[in-house]
Amino acid sequence: MSTTPWWRSAVIYQVYIRSFADGNGDGVGDIAGIRSRLPYLKSLGVDALWINPWYKSPMGDGGYDVADFRAIDPLFGTLADAEQLIEEAHRHGIRIIPDIVPNHTSDQHVWFQAAMAAGPGSPERERFIFRPGRGPDGDLPPNNWVSCFGGPAWTRLPDGEWYLHLFAPEQPDLNWQHPDVHAEFESILRFWFSRGVDGFRIDVAHGLTKDPELPDLAGDQTPHPHWDRDEVHAIYRTWRKVADEFDDDRAFVAEAWADTPERLAAYVRPGGLHTAFNFDFLMASWDTKDLRRVIDDSLAMLSGVGAPATWVLSNHDVMRHTSRYARKTVARWVPNQRYQPEGDIDLELGTRRARAAALLMLALPGGAYIYQGDELGLPEVEDLPETVLQDPIWERSGHTDKGRDGCRVPIPWSGQTEPFGFSSDDAYAGPWLPQPANWGQRSVEAQTGDETSILELYRTALHLRRHNPALGDGTMTWLDAPAGVLAFRREPGFTCLVNLSAEAYQLPDDTAILLASGPVPNGRLEPEQAVWLAV
Ligand code: GLC
Repeated sequence: MSTTPWWRSAVIYQVYIRSFADGNGDGVGDIAGIRSRLPYLKSLGVDALWINPWYKSPMGDGGYDVADFRAIDPLFGTLADAEQLIEEAHRHGIRIIPDIVPNHTSDQHVWFQAAMAAGPGSPERERFIFRPGRGPDGDLPPNNWVSCFGGPAWTRLPDGEWYLHLFAPEQPDLNWQHPDVHAEFESILRFWFSRGVDGFRIDVAHGLTKDPELPDLAGDQTPHPHWDRDEVHAIYRTWRKVADEFDDDRAFVAEAWADTPERLAAYVRPGGLHTAFNFDFLMASWDTKDLRRVIDDSLAMLSGVGAPATWVLSNHDVMRHTSRYARKTVARWVPNQRYQPEGDIDLELGTRRARAAALLMLALPGGAYIYQGDELGLPEVEDLPETVLQDPIWERSGHTDKGRDGCRVPIPWSGQTEPFGFSSDDAYAGPWLPQPANWGQRSVEAQTGDETSILELYRTALHLRRHNPALGDGTMTWLDAPAGVLAFRREPGFTCLVNLSAEAYQLPDDTAILLASGPVPNGRLEPEQAVWLAV
């Protein structure tokens, strides 16, 4: 038996709970829905689920505005449901990783309510970041920081004080210089660890600590006044100790947007967090040079600190990669800017590339994330009517940016009409976002058993990966290949090839194909396809 900790090679499936499966027919996904789909997840072959926030929340930002970290929102179920899910998932051999949101709370959280009531200068306000305004009447924000969702990062209360929110005004930032904040989060971690969760995904992990002077943003200053500051790591060293109090290898994954692989690696040094999402891979263009550079830089930096890589192609915040890859030229994505693809959309091309990308990602050393619907090849829903949009970005951008709802449309499970099996109850209310009329073709039911479907490709890849000692944690070696072809070897006896060029590539004779992302006639690897070989 291998003694490698599970999180070094886990395939983690991201459940965006509102859109995964609706167990009570109200049109919103919930814990009962997840429980009913555990057999599907088991047969898909994933190791763990990362579940987006399920806590009590007014849902100003899809649950990332948490009012009570120790309660489940009634929309999703009860604490007893969550405990039952954890237990059932474990029985299926699947681990559970909830999201934790330490950068901010909801404005409905008891602490913020108390802070508003207590008034300027009160100790209650010190748990958040309150300041007087600038200008003779204090009616200018304390500094020029901007919210990630558009507009100023400050909101003024009727009593004249301003509070900081790097996201929506309903998400006041916590003050991580305050001991109460540290104690509270350590207690929340223990609350959930003792209920059996296997780890946490840490939301905005790079944002907790701010320059105490709160200086204006002035271009490219380093360190940045509120992102990825060195002080943040002390928090995670403490969190690591909390995780280590529990048995069974509890693990963290950081959502940390760092400028360089070196800065990212700092989160996963010994004694710090276990893993961090590697967004560089998700941002890469579909180009051998860019991909190779990202892979090399990430592996070099992470192995330098002894941490495994994690590969991710999509999540609930970015355009689905089937659509990102559906333009002839895939530009590199720039963080903090909406991805605006240019050119005609060709979903057939996007799907071919998405299939190839899945085999690439699952063959790389380390762990991998699958966003719900990746395995169905779902595209971004780019034509949602404006009237249904719920992402706060839509309002905050003054209706210039439709936001992230296009990657959050409920999953099609079966049948030919909405809700495509997403909701099962008779009291069904209609999914919270409308599903495209043709999504029956992409449903789990339609793809199951169809050898040519992307779902069966994922299923086969995950099963091969689980049993092939060359895959998961470890190292890789690049092999010589013509321009436009990525080729690498993993030991023992495994090679992955991805053809991003316009010409077919003849595979060597002495190989056996384990899996291919499309037909390989006479050993010819066609453009935009990938293969796994036994050598
Ligand atoms: C993270 C989440 C995103 C959320 C934001 C604020 O980036 O992934 O969905 O809106 O944090 O909590």
